[in-house]
Amino acid sequence: MDKKILLTGDRPTGNLHIGHYIGSLHQRVQMQNSGNYEPYILIADVQALTDNADNPEKIRASIIEVCLDYLGVGIDPQISTIGVQSHIYPLTELTTYYLNLVTLARLQRNPTVKAEMKQKKYGANVPVGFLTYPISQAADITAFNADVVPVGEDQLPVIEQTCEIVNAFNRIYGQTLTMPKAILETNKACHRLVGIDGNAKMSKSLGNTINLKDDADTIKQKVMNMYTDPNHIHIEDPGQVEGNTVFAYLDAFATDDQISQLSEYSSLNEMKEHYKHGGLGDVKIKKILNEILQQLLKPIREKRQVFEKDRAHVMQILKQGSEKMLEVASKTLDRVKTSMGINYFTDKTFTDKYSTN
Ligand code: TRP
Repeated sequence: MDKKILLTGDRPTGNLHIGHYIGSLHQRVQMQNSGNYEPYILIADVQALTDNADNPEKIRASIIEVCLDYLGVGIDPQISTIGVQSHIYPLTELTTYYLNLVTLARLQRNPTVKAEMKQKKYGANVPVGFLTYPISQAADITAFNADVVPVGEDQLPVIEQTCEIVNAFNRIYGQTLTMPKAILETNKACHRLVGIDGNAKMSKSLGNTINLKDDADTIKQKVMNMYTDPNHIHIEDPGQVEGNTVFAYLDAFATDDQISQLSEYSSLNEMKEHYKHGGLGDVKIKKILNEILQQLLKPIREKRQVFEKDRAHVMQILKQGSEKMLEVASKTLDRVKTSMGINYFTDKTFTDKYSTN
């Protein structure tokens, strides 16, 4: 069976957190290990610069950090190719051609871009590069002929725009680009992990994350300070499960097996019922969650530490990966230019017309 091409990526704006893990990374690793895919992973520094133009140092420092996070969770460079976007320069040229296939109105309607613009309070002062990042992302996806793109739920509108660009390109210039498909995590609780403060989204910029590299004490401290139900004051008070961060995390990370090993409950549902009824305290549910997160993150952290000791090797992984991805993207760019009829000096139908003999 032919392997499907998988492409995905992350903006290097800081360390990856458990929201990235549960929403995307762990599925990536599973897909990688299934043997059914040829995975490419892009560290999207060009995209990260679209709203960090004045802070390149942050992006620069995050390249290795994000790569270490990948290696820690089990991305295997023998199977997955990891590359740095800015090094794969045909992506910017592809972006230029795709820019003409998208209207300003369409970009402004993109729900993801809209939400991000609102969060950053850009209004009309949005950097043009930021507004157009879905187009550069279409270049990322099509450059590697990706069949599948595993992403978090918030990225669905961006992938939808890629599909529109693929349709437009193929319609105008002839069948050239591969139509990608977004793959979402199947557990709904994993789609959008709330922050530890109960804020709608776990996000580096909101400072409400648990990072993959956090040490055991930090994790414990963050869990113990988590937002729960503000009206659940005494243990015997009935508690709210909805909007309760601890339960949102248990939904995403806990299995019933773990719950029954760590408590007297046979399932997460049984535990929720007790909490709703009253008689189950916040400290206890936090201790259970802490245990579960510690079990998950310890091996990731330890594996990461092994690679941290050999950063030269990590650099080598990135360099080789980027070179391989440059090769693949160059081939796509060549195909794109041929379809568009702008490969003037290598296109025989063009050169023959103007040759003197
Ligand atoms: N926009 C993605 C994010 O913010 C990162 C990204 C860049 C990406 N290029 C991509 C994701 C290509 C999937 C495919 O997380």
